[in-house]
Amino acid sequence: MNFSGSHILSIDQFDRGDVETIFNVADKMAPFAKRDSITKVLDGAILGSMFFEASTRTRISFGSAFNLLGGSVRETTGFEHSAIAKGESLYDTARVLSGYSDVIVMRHPENGSVLEFSKASRVPVLNGGDGTNEHPSQALLDLYTIKNELAFRGRNIDRLRIAMVGDLKFGRTVHSLCKLLALFKDIRVVLVSPEELKMPRELVEYLKEQGQEVIESDALEESISNVDIVYSTRIQEERFKSQEEADIYRGRFRLNQTIYTANCEPNTVIMHPLPRDSREHARELDDDLNDNPNLAIFRQTDNGVLVRMALFALVLDVEHEINSSARDTIWYTAGRSL
Ligand code: CP
Repeated sequence: MNFSGSHILSIDQFDRGDVETIFNVADKMAPFAKRDSITKVLDGAILGSMFFEASTRTRISFGSAFNLLGGSVRETTGFEHSAIAKGESLYDTARVLSGYSDVIVMRHPENGSVLEFSKASRVPVLNGGDGTNEHPSQALLDLYTIKNELAFRGRNIDRLRIAMVGDLKFGRTVHSLCKLLALFKDIRVVLVSPEELKMPRELVEYLKEQGQEVIESDALEESISNVDIVYSTRIQEERFKSQEEADIYRGRFRLNQTIYTANCEPNTVIMHPLPRDSREHARELDDDLNDNPNLAIFRQTDNGVLVRMALFALVLDVEHEINSSARDTIWYTAGRSL
């Protein structure tokens, strides 16, 4: 695809070459994310950051990514701080905000809302998560992490074996990740969920049509015994009719060190898009995994900055200019590593 000036709304936009392009640019962002160097390639540019649902990682890492490229961020969080609360349409909001920004990142609780917004926007729009539909930048950072974890083990993404665990019905990260994995070869996807929270049929069928192997199960321990990656997900309680309904499923698929040791191969990578629900009745990834070197959840969050920097650089067409204004940092950087 031609990234310059494009909206990034869905994994459907990408082919395998596009994904490799994003990852190659992301690799080049490491010195800036590690604070070895700074670049001002987006000096003067403004990111409009509009998050109408709760977010820690996506909102802050998109903002940090833009700052690390030298740009500034203007934020709106929550409907209550937006004129949408006074009845303003997405169309009008997009027309107005695209006059104030060079690029916009948006999260919204309704499926298709970011697409609708993008149609009225005069600048590129990046989807920070729309309802249960998609979370494309999360899937890209997840796959970038998978690529790096496998490279450390002398492997590449083709022939990956991955178990996706938890709320596969409402979890938008796994929806985007399935579409992304479908671009690669000989992938085995084990889908572990309660019957009521299974992966949407169209995504299962799509994976199969693309030649991937799909196994569905409601049993955790037998499903994680022959995989490279266990990708755990949170019960998306905000999508249920009531907390009581979400409580039925909470804590159903807990992974802790004992279960990991008993069932997983020694180098199985543990991933989660986060936030993990660490409350006592959930504990989907137990704290006792925190010292497990195969727990990649904070490598995922660090990689999110690189991948989001790459998306901005590509969409704003500066990927070849990032070093033109680079200089060494002069402040204490804590010996940060990625
Ligand atoms: N993974 C993710 O989307 O996290 P946030 O909700 O904190 O942005």
